[in-house]
Amino acid sequence: MEQENYHRGDKMAILVTGGAGYIGSHTLMALLDRNEEVIVIDDLSKGHEYAVKGGKFYCGDLRDEDFLDTVFQQNEIEDVIHFAAYSLVGESMKDPIAYYNNNVKGTITLLHCMKKYGVKNIVFSSTAAVYGEPEHIPILEEDNTNPTNPYGESKLAIERLLKWSNNAGDINYIALRYFNAAGAHESGSIGEDHDPETHLIPIILETALGIREKIIIFGDDYDTPDGTCIRDYIHVMDIAQAHILALDKLRRQGRSGIYNLGNGAGFSVREVIEKAKEVTGRNIPVEIGDRRPGDPAILVASSEKAKEELNWNPKYGDLGKIIEDAWKWHRTKISSDIN
Ligand code: UFG
Repeated sequence: MEQENYHRGDKMAILVTGGAGYIGSHTLMALLDRNEEVIVIDDLSKGHEYAVKGGKFYCGDLRDEDFLDTVFQQNEIEDVIHFAAYSLVGESMKDPIAYYNNNVKGTITLLHCMKKYGVKNIVFSSTAAVYGEPEHIPILEEDNTNPTNPYGESKLAIERLLKWSNNAGDINYIALRYFNAAGAHESGSIGEDHDPETHLIPIILETALGIREKIIIFGDDYDTPDGTCIRDYIHVMDIAQAHILALDKLRRQGRSGIYNLGNGAGFSVREVIEKAKEVTGRNIPVEIGDRRPGDPAILVASSEKAKEELNWNPKYGDLGKIIEDAWKWHRTKISSDIN
């Protein structure tokens, strides 16, 4: 059937895959604030329906081509922001097939549908995990990519697929390599909500709330000033903003590219815990444990390229603000028992 023969809606929309997940739901909020028409797809295997605060929601798996075809048929999709993926490093080490299957296969089906319906622009959720052990700090986009886990490998495989699809004239893409996404929407109505939770700031705040007895620091014998790992924490709403700027750039220029998203400032695990004590005013018991396999000592981004080419200007760079917003969310969550 020819593309023109499909009956489609009349408003041009942005398709957000994984829009019920952590970064997807925050980007959705930013898009809704801009009065964009949004279609959300999520299979709710990791995400939460309560986090989809607007748009038209479809629950389904990206790998299901008939399902995806229906979504493209029923809506006039103009652009895609693609978050849907498994994203836990540790889990990916245990089940690499599931990671390649979900992340890579889901993207192949999506790209196939985009091609079929003539949709050109895609902003892709990539990760600092594509770099592996860094060669130098701060990390630049042109540095070597050598992932140390299947999660990073699956994202890098997708970046390469996007590059070749662009080369073939099928799509234009911007891949955003996030460093440590953290914080929550200022309203406190959505935030980081993983099960199981493995990320540092939520675990610290759950300890402050008494949900956990203590936080275990994964190693204090790294070659860093206080011996604990250093990361670049970036507010989730700054990441959301970068997706919108990337989309604007694709719409304007159709030029593909890859950009790091970080603050360019590193904080050690101990510094994050100290800052969380200040913000929450609570005691946060700590225990030193073994190193977590695969953790590089230091990961800090250079985001100069995103600042120059996307006009990205992170607003919430202060670690205290990032933890404050996350704290607001964690308290809301515990008091309203969301879920
Ligand atoms: N950490 C602890 N104790 C915990 C949890 C974490 O000490 O209970 C430490 C980790 O060892 C690490 C730091 O806190 O040094 C941050 O850990 P996170 O799990 O919060 O985040 P990662 O840096 O491991 O992961 C991030 C992204 C991934 C991405 C990865 C790239 O969340 O998506 O960077 O290395 F793949």
